[in-house]
Amino acid sequence: MKIKVGIVGVTGYVGQELLRILLRHPAVSVEYLGSRQLKKPAPAGELLPSFRGTNDLKVHPFRITSALDACELLFLALPHGIAMELAPQILRKRTARIVDLSADFRLRSAGQYQQTYRLKHKASPLLREAVYGLPEWNRDKISRSRLVANPGCYPTAVLLGLAPLAKERLLKREGLTVDAKSGATGAGRSLKEDLLFCEVNENLRAYRVNAHQHIPEMEQQMKELSGAPIRMSFVPHFVPINRGLYATIYAPLSRPLTERQLRSIYRKWYSKEPFVRLLPERVWPQVKSVAGSNRCEIGLQRDRQEQRALIITAIDNLGKGAAGQAVQNMNLLCGLEETEGLLG
Ligand SMILES: NC(=O)c1ccc[n+]([C@@H]2O[C@H](COP(=O)([O-])OP(=O)(O)OC[C@H]3O[C@@H](n4cnc5c(N)ncnc54)[C@H](OP(=O)(O)O)[C@@H]3O)[C@@H](O)[C@H]2O)c1
Repeated sequence: MKIKVGIVGVTGYVGQELLRILLRHPAVSVEYLGSRQLKKPAPAGELLPSFRGTNDLKVHPFRITSALDACELLFLALPHGIAMELAPQILRKRTARIVDLSADFRLRSAGQYQQTYRLKHKASPLLREAVYGLPEWNRDKISRSRLVANPGCYPTAVLLGLAPLAKERLLKREGLTVDAKSGATGAGRSLKEDLLFCEVNENLRAYRVNAHQHIPEMEQQMKELSGAPIRMSFVPHFVPINRGLYATIYAPLSRPLTERQLRSIYRKWYSKEPFVRLLPERVWPQVKSVAGSNRCEIGLQRDRQEQRALIITAIDNLGKGAAGQAVQNMNLLCGLEETEGLLG
């Protein structure tokens, strides 16, 4: 029997990528697609040109009750602030499961959420229950949960790059620097002046320097991995590509490591991971080689400055950074093979 799933927010970039992956997933049946723009159901192919020809697929005016009647698992691909209103109602259905793509359940503290997103949290008891959906580091908890907080795209790339060092207690608490770059789909599909073609094309710019909303999420997870607070400087940039996310990480080490020791730590944690690819020496990740996949590439070198590691990671922000990882989480939640329906 196929697992009945639905997508709320299917007209967004993440919602559309989810639909693309789920339509070829052998173990699921897409039973519900919701958009608040509609007054009556419309064929998906009319609303979303890349789904032309999928004649029997309809998008419905979003009603949570219809979504719940049709599905066992809902993907919420909505701006932050909405999932926290929907989740308590969804989880009243005993068998329901949620993979939330927004930031609503990623932070452990309601106070931190309010400070970061300037919204009062409306479902704070669920913050204790929600599981952070980075499967490489949390798969047992994810498989036992019913509410998964899918990580942000920057946190996915940065945490996968740093987690082995954090777990081995090899990171200094101060001095960590991350320079990261995102393609334009990372900011969503709604109209914003600084995302117009002429503003993004032929341009490169930093934004929200040391003030990005993903910093508390990354520092929270780094603390959970390493057992101690670790601060980072974080400089995100917009680059004129549609999809792709690239993180260059300068990581100060608590003790000197040789190149061989550094690589063997990463091999120890990642050699069996289906979606993490540790590249050979002097080979560096590219956004093109991960585009459309659920893969994270990692390049690694002991820096010329002793006691510092240089780590570069690349993901597709809509793949491993969002929809691909959400399907990986769904596979775990539903007891399926973790890689099912995903491109490694
Ligand atoms: N883009 C990325 O690379 C990325 C990566 C990781 C995580 N995320 C997160 O994933 C979520 C979706 O991102 P996105 O890039 O797909 O955003 P998006 O392109 O702006 O799409 C969001 C969708 O949510 C729906 N929506 C907006 N307000 C709503 C409301 N009040 N009630 C119900 N539906 C509403 C809209 O669809 P309708 O108007 O049709 O209802 C819209 O298409 C966000 O929380 C984002 O932070 C995004």
